[in-house]
Amino acid sequence: MTHQFEYSTLAHPQDIQQLATILEQCYVMPSGDSEIYINRIGTENFRFIRGCEQVIGGLATLAMGQWWGGQRVPMTGIAAVGIAPEYRGSGAAIALMEHTLKELHTQEVPISVLYPATQRLYRKAGYEQGGSFCSWEISTQSIQVREQPLPLQPIIPINHEVFHDLYQQQARLIHGYLDRNPVIWQGLIQPDNQEIIYSYFIGDKDQPQGYIIFSQHSAEDGVFLRVRDWVVLTDAAVQTFWSFVANHRSQIKQVRWKSSVIDSLTLQLPEQTAKISHHERWMLRVIDLVKALEMRGYPPGIQAELHLEVKDDLLIDNNGKFILFVANGRGEVTRGGKGELQLDIRGLAPLYTSLFTPYHLQLAGKLHATETALLAATQIFAGVSPWMANFF
Ligand SMILES: CC(C)(COP(=O)(O)OP(=O)(O)OC[C@H]1O[C@@H](n2cnc3c(N)ncnc32)[C@H](O)[C@@H]1OP(=O)(O)O)[C@@H](O)C(=O)NCCC(=O)NCCS
Repeated sequence: MTHQFEYSTLAHPQDIQQLATILEQCYVMPSGDSEIYINRIGTENFRFIRGCEQVIGGLATLAMGQWWGGQRVPMTGIAAVGIAPEYRGSGAAIALMEHTLKELHTQEVPISVLYPATQRLYRKAGYEQGGSFCSWEISTQSIQVREQPLPLQPIIPINHEVFHDLYQQQARLIHGYLDRNPVIWQGLIQPDNQEIIYSYFIGDKDQPQGYIIFSQHSAEDGVFLRVRDWVVLTDAAVQTFWSFVANHRSQIKQVRWKSSVIDSLTLQLPEQTAKISHHERWMLRVIDLVKALEMRGYPPGIQAELHLEVKDDLLIDNNGKFILFVANGRGEVTRGGKGELQLDIRGLAPLYTSLFTPYHLQLAGKLHATETALLAATQIFAGVSPWMANFF
């Protein structure tokens, strides 16, 4: 069955109630929770899809930034994609995604990121795997870091603004890290249930070298400490982080935190007792190819030229041949060239983020390139494994 769908921003006051009901059913939420969620995101940030003149689904857009090669690239996160079950399987979700991407393209947003419940839908819209979201855990007994070089300063009451500056110092160095939307900041310091949230500066109050925000939870196999957010800017801050959490060991059995798949925090531990408890990959879409390539940063020591040929069935401006010239850590794009590295807009996502090397992307059939182009792409898109600490 094919339907005619109509895409819009909030048009009638009753749209919100209808979408709230749909999202509650889609995401198995307790009654009333989706309206709280919608108000937190802001009703103006939702997009609606209608069929037969009523709302049949929608999604949330979160305007923020993402750090690539030390530069902030504007990025719109997509969340809460939901279609009423009676309308599923007829193209409503893909229509909603395509309209949203066209709208973002007119706004010149370079890239978009989302967490997929299914890859098939989002691949169809031009997204591909972009980086990792990874949870770690360790038993407090096995941390064994006793020395605590820095003091800890409790921050009461918690106001997330006091952490922004420290966060930004760490974020700009991490490939794929978010320049967070305020809703994401708010979520870090807002309890999900009855739990209390604690936060501390690591180091002197006037010149902190990091911070930790956490909550304590009971589970079937004991109490655990959930690090909701962390920043460590120095070696002393890392040691202090570990000794501080280890000092909870008389009551707390385990510590959980988010980090890279290759977590540098664990390099300071005596043994390899920390384990990954959850790992998934978020997806990225290049929406405005020229802006995406020109706004990010590149390895500073290289000068290279890459001739691309890109295919994008949805956003026609991204089609064709482009030359990416990289020097002094910045990139410049011009139309034309030899098209020596050919790829679909989807294949550009893991290349852009350096989740996979150009060689491995070629092996997986995501791109085709000459030897020269493969070498240039390997130099240009060299980077550590991309990740982010926030789910949305
Ligand atoms: C996922 C969801 C949004 C899909 O909505 P939909 O309107 O049925 O999707 P569409 O009809 O537009 O499907 C578009 C494509 O995605 C595929 N697709 C849709 N849902 C899928 C699923 N659950 N698993 C695998 N592929 C799926 C379709 O097969 C179609 O691809 P095809 O044309 O190549 O066959 C809907 O099932 C939903 O609301 N689920 C509950 C909430 C949720 O999980 N949202 C996603 C969060 S990231």
